[in-house]
Amino acid sequence: MYRTHTCGELRLANAGEIVTLAGWVQRTRKMGGMTFVDVRDRYGITQICFEEQPSEGQTDACNTLFEQANKLGREYVIQVTGTVNERSNKNKNLPTGDIEIIASKLVVLNESVTPPFTIEDQSDGGDDLRMKYRYLDLRRTPVRSNLELRHKMTMEVRRYLDSLGFLEIETPMLIGSTPEGARDFVVPSRMNPGQFYALPQSPQTLKQLLMVSGMDRYFQIVKCFRDEDLRADRQPEFTQIDCEMSFVTQEDILQTFEGMAKHLFKELRGIELKEAFPRMTWADAMKYYGSDKPDTRFGMKFVELKDLFAQAPGFSVFDDAKYIGGICATGQAVYTRKQIDQLTDFVKRPQIGAKGMVYARVQDDGSVKSSVDKFYDQNVLSALKEKMNAQPGDLILILSGDDAMKTRKQLCELRLEMGSRMGLRDKNQFSLLWVIDFPMFEWSEEEGRLMATHHPFTHPKDEDIPLLDTDPAAVRADAYDMVCNGVEVGGGSIRIHDPELQDKMFRILGFTEERAQEQFGFLMNAFKYGAPPHGGLAYGLDRWVSLFAGLDSIRDCIAFPKNNSGRDVMLDAPACLEQKQLDELYLSLKPVEN
Ligand code: AMO
Repeated sequence: MYRTHTCGELRLANAGEIVTLAGWVQRTRKMGGMTFVDVRDRYGITQICFEEQPSEGQTDACNTLFEQANKLGREYVIQVTGTVNERSNKNKNLPTGDIEIIASKLVVLNESVTPPFTIEDQSDGGDDLRMKYRYLDLRRTPVRSNLELRHKMTMEVRRYLDSLGFLEIETPMLIGSTPEGARDFVVPSRMNPGQFYALPQSPQTLKQLLMVSGMDRYFQIVKCFRDEDLRADRQPEFTQIDCEMSFVTQEDILQTFEGMAKHLFKELRGIELKEAFPRMTWADAMKYYGSDKPDTRFGMKFVELKDLFAQAPGFSVFDDAKYIGGICATGQAVYTRKQIDQLTDFVKRPQIGAKGMVYARVQDDGSVKSSVDKFYDQNVLSALKEKMNAQPGDLILILSGDDAMKTRKQLCELRLEMGSRMGLRDKNQFSLLWVIDFPMFEWSEEEGRLMATHHPFTHPKDEDIPLLDTDPAAVRADAYDMVCNGVEVGGGSIRIHDPELQDKMFRILGFTEERAQEQFGFLMNAFKYGAPPHGGLAYGLDRWVSLFAGLDSIRDCIAFPKNNSGRDVMLDAPACLEQKQLDELYLSLKPVEN
C-alpha cells in the first residue's frame, strides 16, 4: 500500500497515529534544526516535519532522514511515514492545518526537474507557459477544482435526466459535412480516396433521427467541433449537454430544462431558484439591450430618442441618424471629462465602431449639462431627462447611427462597460432568462441570401407560417436560448416534422431540390417513415461550469484547451503531416498564399 491517507485527510483526531502519505513536494522550508515539507496531492496539502536532532532512543538514521529531506526539490514525488502530531502554530487556512507529520521514513518515488513556474494557487507563470505545461498547471488547486466542479456537474446532469427517463446515446464523431452554421473540421478517409468525413458541429440531425427511431427522450454529453473565430466563451472543440424529446411542445421543453438549471444551481451552488425564469422576446432583447443575450443583472435599459431629438433639428449627427438610443447611469454625473473621454475612446474602438458619444449630466438643481448644449435648449434637455427617467446626479450616454441594429450593438457594449465600471456585474449573482421567438432567418451579406438563424430544421411559429410565402424575413421561429449573466448557456427549438414544410424551408434557404436531397436526404427520407413531433435543446457545458466557477474564460474549465489561435501548444497541434501520410490519403498541398 502506497499510502494510508491522502494529503487532505488528517485532522487533530488522528494525532498519535502512524500514517503514510504520498504526493508532490510543494515547497520546503528549513528553520534551524527543522525542515518542513508541504506535500500535496489532489485532496490537499499536509505539512511534514523533519527534525535534525535524533530524539531520545533514535539513532543517526534520523539525521540521514533530515539530510534526505533537505535534498528534496519542488515537485519531487515522495512517500513519507510518520506520526501525526498537533501543531504548535496552527494554519487556519489549511483544512489539515492543525496537524503535521513527524517523519520517520522518506522514500523518493521520483525526482522532478525544476518546474517552469511555481505550482501554487497564485502562479508566476504566464498564460502561454501554463498552457504549454498544462499537466503542471492542472496540479494547481484553482484549475483542478474547476475540473472537479465539471465532474460534479456532469454527474448531476446524468442524475437529473435519468430520473426523467432520458437515455444517454452516443452518436458518431465521423459524419458528413453540413453546409449551414460554422465551418466544419474535416477528416480525410484513407479507404475512400478523395472523400472526407466531418466532425459534428452538434449531433443535431442524428438526435432527430433518434426521435424517428422512437427513443423519445435522448441526451448525450458530447464533444462538438466548430471551425470559427475564438473568443473567451468559444473553443473549437467544446462540450454540449445535447437533448431531444418527442411529443412535446415548446412549453414542455422550457419546463424540463429550466428544471435542470434549477437542479444544477441547487446541487452545485446551494442556490434555490424558486421563481420561473423570465421570458423575453428576441425583439425586446434587441430593443432594450441590443443583444440576444442580455445581461439582466442590472437595468440601464435602452431608451429610443429619435422622436425626441427630431422635434428640434439642428444637430446634423442626430438629424441624419436612423437610430438614437440612450442609457442612464445612475449616480455617475460625477464622471470627469477624462473619464468621459475614455468612454468615448472605448466606443470608438474598431471592434465597437461608434463614431462618437453624446453625454448629458443631470446637475443637483435638476438642470441638464450636455455635450450638445449648443444645439438643444433646456426644454429639449429636460424632455430628455424625463424620457430617460434620470434624476439629479445621473449621467445619460447617447449613441446614434444610420444602422439601428449596429448602433444598438454598440450601445450594448457601452452598457456592459458601464455595468462593469459601476460594479453591477457581480459574478456571484445570477440572472437567468429565456430569450424566445427568434427570427427564423437572417440575411447573410457574405452568401447574399437568407440563412437559418438557428438551423434549417427549426419550426416557424404557427401563426407566422403564412408569412413564409410573403415576407420570410419577418417569420419568427419556435426557437429559444437560455441566457445567464449575458452568456448564452443553451439553445434549441421545436423541429419541423412535416416533409412539405421542410421542403419549403430549404427552398427559402436557396437549396435546389437536388442539393437538399444530397445534403439532407437521409433526414428527409427518414421523415417519410413516421416522424413524431419533436424538439430539443443543447446546453454548453463549458459555459455552465465557467459561470458557476466565476471564470473569465471557458478555457479554465477544460483539461487541455486550445489557445486563441486554435492551437494546442502542449501537443503542438495542428502540425504538418509526413509526405507518406499525405500519399496514403491521396492528398497534395497547395502552397500557402500570404
Ligand atoms: P447552438 O449552436 O446554439 O445549438 O449550441 C448550443 C450551445 O452550445 C454552446 N456553444 C459553445 N460553447 C463553447 N464553444 C463554442 N464554440 C460553442 N458554440 C456553442 C452554447 C450554445 O448555447 N444543435 C443545436 C441545439 C438544438 O437545437 O438542440 C445547437 O448546437 O452554450
